[in-house]
Amino acid sequence: MDTCAVILAAGQGTRMKTFLPKAMTEVLFKPMLDWVISALEAAGVNDICVVTGYSAEFIEEHLAGKYETVRQLERRGTGHAVMKASEFINRHINSNVLVLNGDAPLINAETISDACAYHNRKADDITVVTARIPDPAGYGRILRDAQGDIDRIVEEKDADEAQRQINEVNSGVYCFRAGSLLDALSKLKPVNSKNEYYLTDTIGIVNEQGGRVGAFTAKDQSVILGANTRRQLSEINEIARFRILDKLWDNGVDIPCTDGVIVGPDVEVGKDTRILPGTILRGKVTIGEKCVIGPNSYVKDSVIGDLVRFDNSQIRSAEIKSNCRIGPFAQIRPNSVICDRVHLGNFTEVKNSIVDEGTAVSHLTYVGDSDVGKDVNFGCGTVTVNFTGKEKFRTVIKDGAFIGCNTNLVAPVTIGKNAFTAAGSTITEDVPDNSLVIARSRQEVKRNWVIEHQPYRRTVEVDDDE
Ligand code: UD1
Ligand code: CA
Repeated sequence: MDTCAVILAAGQGTRMKTFLPKAMTEVLFKPMLDWVISALEAAGVNDICVVTGYSAEFIEEHLAGKYETVRQLERRGTGHAVMKASEFINRHINSNVLVLNGDAPLINAETISDACAYHNRKADDITVVTARIPDPAGYGRILRDAQGDIDRIVEEKDADEAQRQINEVNSGVYCFRAGSLLDALSKLKPVNSKNEYYLTDTIGIVNEQGGRVGAFTAKDQSVILGANTRRQLSEINEIARFRILDKLWDNGVDIPCTDGVIVGPDVEVGKDTRILPGTILRGKVTIGEKCVIGPNSYVKDSVIGDLVRFDNSQIRSAEIKSNCRIGPFAQIRPNSVICDRVHLGNFTEVKNSIVDEGTAVSHLTYVGDSDVGKDVNFGCGTVTVNFTGKEKFRTVIKDGAFIGCNTNLVAPVTIGKNAFTAAGSTITEDVPDNSLVIARSRQEVKRNWVIEHQPYRRTVEVDDDE
């Protein structure tokens, strides 16, 4: 049977104390909402409606029209939130409707698929995904009848002492038959300690009407964990972090020490690449084989080829091909391509530039808005002067050029093939191929000037203090 999904993400996250809508708080730098969406998509469910409320525009902008959204202007409970998606559910009246919380990011495709299969096999009206967890505080508890069938769900606030001892909890993930869901929603009443319309009451309602309710117990209990507080968010981060590191180890990635190693869920790393402590790989990242990344490095939304040494450096929205040596202390900024066998040494910055094969930018250099050819050598302290204060211009350096130390290249300017610039030059006009350019004042020597002028001389003293 076709399956669509409604994700509840209208909550403010009062307990989280955040300016963001709760579902947009991040686990491994990815909003919780996106984790839930990724799990659904991996399970083959692409028809998704997100219920927004608090800071609705923020989520709508983030989703950028990729999924339907409906607004719940007043937050009157999880049942009320699903009611806001009635029109979406009506359009899928012959389907199953999954409902998930936007604040439970560890849910995975396997649990979703297995729960749907169970639901279809048993031809239930509702299947609730449950788990037994050591500390059930804060979750709705599953009440079962004498036959062991699920009877209803009681929220912690409405539970008595005995019910609170139950450690089988509601995950907040359900699979409903669309018609049964709409029918049960129409019968919800806000009669509980919070005066809210609880989605969980649909279970009791369907049972009372003689409908069929099943409970599917998740294989991995941690998939149901929800984050209501920063503490829970950090626990979930830690679980997610080790899930990913485990997968990397299985794939032959070498992580000898996990301290400060944070790898996001949309990162791929090749065999025999080593990740050293203090390294963050976040967003959409692909790293090839036999690289060494770190220590203390930051890679965001970038592609790195094979055999790259990336040491104490940062890269954002850019690409490094293979056999490069980057760092220590290099920064590669967006829209840059660093081609094969390039060396970017200490205190070098590259922005919006192409650096072609075999080029060396070894020290203290800024390459911005530039097209750099093959086998170019940058002397220490080269600056591409790309910004007039009003406009930005490009610098072109052709293959085989040699840029002397402390050269300023005032853009727009082109340095020809195999050309040399003398150290300390400020180049303002194009330099033809195979030429030497000198653009600095000639040296002048005044003999015996010091003896004649007796200038001040500093005597060197040794300080007592450290
Ligand atoms: C809910 C369940 C509880 C379950 C737990 C699992 C209810 C009544 N309780 O409790 O049984 O164990 O999830 O994590 O359903 N939301 C809206 N609109 C609202 C209220 C909430 O969109 O008016 C959204 C929230 O943003 C959140 C989700 O629904 O993403 C769950 O709401 P939350 O308040 O966190 O429910 P819990 O108390 O965790
Ligand atoms: Ca919650």
